[in-house]
Amino acid sequence: MIPSSFIHDLLNRIDIVNVVDRHVPLKKAGANYNACCPFHNEKTPSFTVSPTKQFFHCFGCGAHGSPINFLMEYSGMNFVEAVTDLATSVGMQMPEQSMGRSRSAGLESGSTSIGGECIEESTMASRLNLNEVMREATQFYREQLKQSDKAVAYLKKRGLSGETAAHFAIGYAPGGWQNLETVFSDYKSEATENLLIQAGLIIATDDGKQYDRFRDRVMFPILGHKGKIIGFGGRVFEQGEPKYLNSPETPIFAKGHELYNLFSARRAIRDAGCVIVVEGYMDVVALYQHGIEYAVAALGTATTAFQIQKLLRQTDDVIFCFDGDVAGSKAAWRAMENSLSYLVDGKNLSFLFLPEGEDPDSYINQFGKAAFEELIKQAIPLSVFLFNGLLKEVDLQTSEGRAKLVRDAKPLLKQVTAPIMALMLLKRLVELSGISQGELENLLQIRSVSSKKGREKTERPRPVSPYHWLIQILLYQPVYINKLDRELLAVSGELYEELEILRTVVEFLDVHPQVINGASSSSIVTYFRDSPYRGLLEKFESETLEWDDTIDLEAEFSGALKRLQEVQRKQRMTELHNKPLSQLTEREKQELKTLAMS
Ligand code: UTP
Ligand code: MN
Repeated sequence: MIPSSFIHDLLNRIDIVNVVDRHVPLKKAGANYNACCPFHNEKTPSFTVSPTKQFFHCFGCGAHGSPINFLMEYSGMNFVEAVTDLATSVGMQMPEQSMGRSRSAGLESGSTSIGGECIEESTMASRLNLNEVMREATQFYREQLKQSDKAVAYLKKRGLSGETAAHFAIGYAPGGWQNLETVFSDYKSEATENLLIQAGLIIATDDGKQYDRFRDRVMFPILGHKGKIIGFGGRVFEQGEPKYLNSPETPIFAKGHELYNLFSARRAIRDAGCVIVVEGYMDVVALYQHGIEYAVAALGTATTAFQIQKLLRQTDDVIFCFDGDVAGSKAAWRAMENSLSYLVDGKNLSFLFLPEGEDPDSYINQFGKAAFEELIKQAIPLSVFLFNGLLKEVDLQTSEGRAKLVRDAKPLLKQVTAPIMALMLLKRLVELSGISQGELENLLQIRSVSSKKGREKTERPRPVSPYHWLIQILLYQPVYINKLDRELLAVSGELYEELEILRTVVEFLDVHPQVINGASSSSIVTYFRDSPYRGLLEKFESETLEWDDTIDLEAEFSGALKRLQEVQRKQRMTELHNKPLSQLTEREKQELKTLAMS
């Protein structure tokens, strides 16, 4: 493990401008530096390096990170190699590394994980171990597949070759309740310390018994971004509920953040220049077998914003190909909605619809690779899909219909920040609704996309939520943590993701005071390399790139706090209003009055 204090010292000693400039010549542009992005093809520079905050960000492809991330992505080094390389360049001695490989290995106290893969060392220890457990289970399932005529026959019947099954490490979890006991000697250990339970492989009953989660199912291992097995999907044979049983959420597995086959398909995606997102495991597998190796699948949920961001990092062209049924078109609509705020000009999202009743698996098995590739060419762009969907619900012949169209379009269009795309969608709405662009901008309360005024400093848009706003301030100047009243984070009720992120950042800064120190210039997002919030943190941080000395951070901070107080005030008022008047105590009545007046 490399202690986080070492990473911190290292980042303080090197200058990202030098590190990047060695490989990609940079030009000064205002407070920052820029260049054409080395991570995607472009002719005008959108790759920006911030010397004050020591991170790079590409407005084109979303590549983002510290000098360490730059080396990893640019030179293909792994984390330790990149750290070693940078440390050597400034003459720093690498710390001794203790490897927490074996399942019982204790970890040196005080050493945080590598680059903030996780913050707690105990979590790190169990992460390694959980990965190990998953690997051993996969091994077992694969051996069982070889011995099961029934499972082999099933896969054959579905058209899979032995090579394809091996490529995806498909296995078989036999029937019976405690098969994994033969593999894991600690099968029966106490629930709290039982890694198999934590890994989601076995289930504990209330009376202290354990049994296998996956029984008599074909097993599809799911790999995380480092190529380690983090979860399973298990299919029943023929009929049965649920058709696919998936691993539960575990410390190493978050369904909404992962995509089936993304790790193995990275190369194919790069070569093809696009990725196909399908609904099912079997769709991915069947496409692969027919030579379409760049397909991935969401894991039984709607395609999330996280997944979309992940995909947009890897390629400029994302094609959603969902089943030709009602569920499929709903899934496509959800994916479209979840993509809007991540659209980037120059990237294409499109949608492909299969004939009624077909899924990619059935289609390619029937019609073959060439026919499928022909279909891909006919995918419709997001903008068309969006308006087609809206138009289905309205009658353009009537004023009411056109009014509804504008109302329905509003929440969607407002999310699009990519300037050209936003303008195109707006123009299309002008055409369809017969309302002028200026009037629509007013109605939709979107910043005038056509005039330049929007970019003037005085009109800098505030983030939508106070949490988002505070996170940015903390990323920009962590020292503001000292002025943050923690009571303000105690918001109940609906949990906002941004509030969760804010809490996570605050917790991190509380545990790592050295990062707060004004002398530190490295980006704290570096420490969230493996956090589920990494993507959003990077986005928030990139939004601060335009901040400079003219921004009044004090005022920004107190503005954000006021908004937070307002949220709490409203919440408390609602709470009190919801009580019948007769049940309010005198104090509460008084409080309500004060709240109403403030
Ligand atoms: P489908 O039912 O379309 O699966 O669900 P499929 O891949 O076509 O399956 P086959 O061809 O019948 O074997 C699509 C995806 O939704 C998730 C799985 O990820 C599946 O691949 N799913 C489906 C579940 O998680 N649970 C279920 O019970 C069903
Ligand atoms: Mn299918």
